[in-house]
Amino acid sequence: MWHLPRRISMFFLVVALVGVLTTCGTRMATAQTLQHSSSATVQNPDDYVGNDTCATCHQDVADGLANNPHSKLALKHGGTGATCESCHGAGKAHVDGGGDVTKIVRFDKLTPKQIDETCLGCHANTHPNFLRSPHAKAGVSCLSCHSIHKSVPQTTLLVATQPKLCYQCHTDIKPSFAMLFHHPVNEGVVKCSDCHNVHGTFENNNLRATADQDAICTKCHTDVRGPFVFEHAPVKGEGCMSCHTPHGSVNARLLNMPNINVLCNQCHSGVSQDTVHGMSSGSSDSVPCTSCHTYIHGSNMNAAFLQ
Ligand code: HEC
Ligand code: HEC
Ligand code: HEC
Ligand code: HEC
Ligand code: HEC
Ligand code: HEC
Ligand code: HEC
Ligand code: HEC
Ligand code: HEC
Ligand code: HEC
Repeated sequence: MWHLPRRISMFFLVVALVGVLTTCGTRMATAQTLQHSSSATVQNPDDYVGNDTCATCHQDVADGLANNPHSKLALKHGGTGATCESCHGAGKAHVDGGGDVTKIVRFDKLTPKQIDETCLGCHANTHPNFLRSPHAKAGVSCLSCHSIHKSVPQTTLLVATQPKLCYQCHTDIKPSFAMLFHHPVNEGVVKCSDCHNVHGTFENNNLRATADQDAICTKCHTDVRGPFVFEHAPVKGEGCMSCHTPHGSVNARLLNMPNINVLCNQCHSGVSQDTVHGMSSGSSDSVPCTSCHTYIHGSNMNAAFLQ
């Protein structure tokens, strides 16, 4: 049984290749696809019965698929594409057996890895890092989050909307979004997937990868993006997380310290003794540093980020 999904996925690649050749510009066109399919075992076309035959006994499922993005596959092949069998494998033996369930791919009988390989047969180009992601390694398969036939409408075939989907497993993350100051994720303004790519990235914590890592934050907070004539070194160096927490905080402005001056003095401990500030300004109960150093993320006017 273990080799079945692989042979099936090879078939998808052949199907995908045909799609590529006939509908120029689809995402599946890569050298990798071409390379794989050239070595694929060609399936016996006689083992496939086509959608219409499946529909004679599974009318409800076939009808349900009409608005599914996967039905586009069939349309691409002039209605002759083997849509059901792209995922469930060649169906003739199943049909000849009067619906013999041992002769058709049943996803609840597959391991997470077999599921992932089946789906990645077509989606490897959109999600090339999935198999090395923390999710895949922990056995969280595509079908932990997605469903083909039973997804919530309008949700990229998800089994639940975000953040509910994520909280099902990440119960430890949920409290931070209930804190006094938090990114408005539960309010639906920001999504977990704005900052994370759950399909895997090259970064820690599944963070969305960008050349400049802070771009995951400055995508929305454009005013702090810069570049500035006078940069505040840690903003571009250590990054936003050197002063902020991403999910939620008991501190205003999502700061990772309750007191701004204490935060600043982690790196500027000498300031309280210098001539400009005098002895008192560095202590934690004095005027906040940012009341004078207003443009704390960088400035085009003043090297000390003053007004
Ligand atoms: C002659 C009628 C018939 C045809 C045609 C048919 N099936 Fe079935 N199928 C059945 C029956 C009966 C069952 C077992 C009862 C059930 O679970 O619905 C079944 C079960 C299945 C299952 C497993 C359901 C489960 O609960 O795990 C899948 C998947 C499936 N069929 C897919 C297909 C696909 C894909 C096609 C077309 C290639 C197809 N079937 C064509 C009758 C048919
Ligand atoms: C893109 C892959 C894919 C396609 C295309 C697809 N299926 Fe499925 N099918 C699945 C998965 C995955 C499941 C497991 C349940 C789920 O995720 O919805 C499943 C479950 C089923 C079941 C089990 C009953 C159920 O609803 O759980 C049947 C029967 C079935 N499919 C029939 C079909 C038929 C008939 C077609 C074509 C009209 C089809 N499938 C097209 C992936 C696919
Ligand atoms: C941990 C949950 C999770 C897992 C596991 C997962 N996905 Fe997703 N997937 C999502 C979410 C959430 C989105 C919506 C992303 C968004 O709205 O920005 C998504 C979106 C997608 C999309 C739409 C394109 C995109 O990136 O927005 C495709 C295609 C997809 N997933 C395929 C897969 C496949 C194939 C697998 C398995 C190899 C998989 N997913 C595993 C949660 C998951
Ligand atoms: C035979 C190829 C093929 C297989 C196998 C396949 N898909 Fe797809 N999938 C597609 C195509 C084609 C689309 C439509 C892409 C588009 O609209 O650009 C799609 C779209 C999607 C989307 C995006 C839906 C949206 O709203 O944008 C998700 C999520 C997805 N597939 C998940 C899966 C999962 C999970 C599996 C495994 C159970 C799977 N796919 C198996 C070809 C496939
Ligand atoms: C504003 C961007 C952003 C949003 C929105 C976001 N995250 Fe994060 N998340 C991060 C960053 C940045 C880190 C890394 C934290 C660090 O480096 O200290 C992280 C870390 C994590 C971690 C691993 C570390 C830990 O705290 O356990 C998990 C799990 C996680 N996030 C899940 C989620 C979930 C679930 C959601 C939605 C409910 C979500 N995140 C929303 C930016 C975000
Ligand atoms: C079916 C359970 C499940 C679902 C649903 C799920 N996750 Fe996960 N997630 C895990 C497991 C298990 C791990 C790996 C172990 C760990 O680090 O906690 C993980 C890891 C992560 C990590 C990496 C943590 C690290 O330390 O590197 C992030 C970030 C994350 N998930 C975010 C999300 C987001 C966002 C969603 C919703 C779109 C989501 N997860 C949905 C179970 C799940
Ligand atoms: C998808 C857009 C988006 C992304 C990405 C994003 N944010 Fe936000 N951020 C928001 C929104 C919306 C608010 C709430 C603004 C409000 O309530 O006025 C917010 C609030 C904040 C606040 C508090 C602002 C205040 O006035 O209290 C800080 C600090 C912040 N984000 C930092 C970050 C950091 C750091 C990252 C990267 C880890 C990040 N944001 C990523 C949209 C985003
Ligand atoms: C050196 C520490 C530090 C770093 C690094 C930092 N911030 Fe801030 N940020 C602050 C402080 C302090 C405030 C509060 C200013 C105030 O209360 O007057 C703040 C406030 C904010 C606010 C609230 C609105 C505003 O502009 O004042 C946002 C949004 C924000 N930061 C986003 C970011 C993002 C995005 C990054 C990374 C690109 C980042 N910050 C890096 C210290 C920092
Ligand atoms: C993570 C360490 C870090 C934190 C936290 C930090 N800074 Fe800085 N800051 C630096 C570094 C590094 C420089 C670059 C100048 C240098 O070489 O000392 C700098 C430069 C400055 C300058 C310009 C100095 C000059 O010589 O012109 C000011 C003003 C400043 N920081 C104020 C603050 C304030 C106010 C805070 C708190 C909101 C703060 N910094 C938080 C590391 C930090
Ligand atoms: C009352 C306004 C005010 C407050 C409050 C203030 N500063 Fe300053 N700071 C200044 C001025 C004015 C300069 C001199 C700017 C120049 O040389 O052009 C300066 C210069 C600096 C410099 C660069 C020169 C040096 O002395 O190293 C740093 C770093 C600095 N401040 C950090 C801080 C920190 C950290 C705090 C909070 C503990 C703070 N400042 C609070 C007004 C203030």
